Amino acid sequence: MYSSYLSFACEVARDAGALLSRFYERRVAVEYKGDFDVVTEADRTSERLIVERLSAKYPTHSIVAEEGTGVDRASDFVWYVDPLDGTTNFAHSYPMFAVSMALEHAGQLAAGIVYDPLRDELFTAELGGGAYLNNRPIQVSKVGQFAESLLSTGFPSRKRHQDVNVYFFHQAAMLAHGVRRGGSAALDLCYVAAGRLDGFWEFGLNPWDVAAGLLLITEAGGRCTDMHGGEHRLRGPHLAASNTLIHGEMLGLFADVFANRIRVPMPALSP
Ligand code: IPD
Ligand code: CA
Ligand code: CA
Repeated sequence: MYSSYLSFACEVARDAGALLSRFYERRVAVEYKGDFDVVTEADRTSERLIVERLSAKYPTHSIVAEEGTGVDRASDFVWYVDPLDGTTNFAHSYPMFAVSMALEHAGQLAAGIVYDPLRDELFTAELGGGAYLNNRPIQVSKVGQFAESLLSTGFPSRKRHQDVNVYFFHQAAMLAHGVRRGGSAALDLCYVAAGRLDGFWEFGLNPWDVAAGLLLITEAGGRCTDMHGGEHRLRGPHLAASNTLIHGEMLGLFADVFANRIRVPMPALSP
């Protein structure tokens, strides 16, 4: 039902990805949106390309885009656009970033696309149609124990001093196989969908970071809630996503950390 939107968005995401690769090769200057929140010419140029192409093809649709060039057309169709997810990585030539685009229709996520141009990996999902990596079906992992899981999380650059995630990070890192911090929430979510990671959580993400990845995970058999196990909302304060199997254990750990029940104490620091 949404396949024509999906294929058009794939074309646009690939073109935006090619544009990002060109900027990446010649390195770009970093500017600041806040104390630590960086942005580059690549973010803005990619967003311009995506917003222009979507507006030309779907002139009545609304667009929510990170760098502020989206338009509210009071439509039932809303595109969420992150023109460059992983800007900090990109600015440091750390090869982990992507273009993320999702279509919401009548309040439901209908299509999601995440394109990693350096690996030429295109993650796609359509509501009810499954999740794919370069046109091959993908599924979440079958890891059943939190202790045997590989997880990922992120630390927002905004309001760093208020960020409590380091406590969650410490506990999970002590109790699971490992916790990665890839620096691109959109790719983290796709990696859960593809079974490369078993779980992910983060505080303070925005709709353009997660909309595509959420659909990929649910279409790949995974589960997304908030960190208390409630329904995840696109503008909610936190997100917990997993292969479904470890979800309960992951939420149990989060409940303990929220309640200050620390399972593994911090080691004493020796001088
Ligand atoms: C950021 C990345 C990062 C996450 C931050 C996001 P940006 O997006 O997804 O992994 O930890 O919270 O803001 O700013 O690179 O588009
Ligand atoms: Ca982002
Ligand atoms: Ca971005």
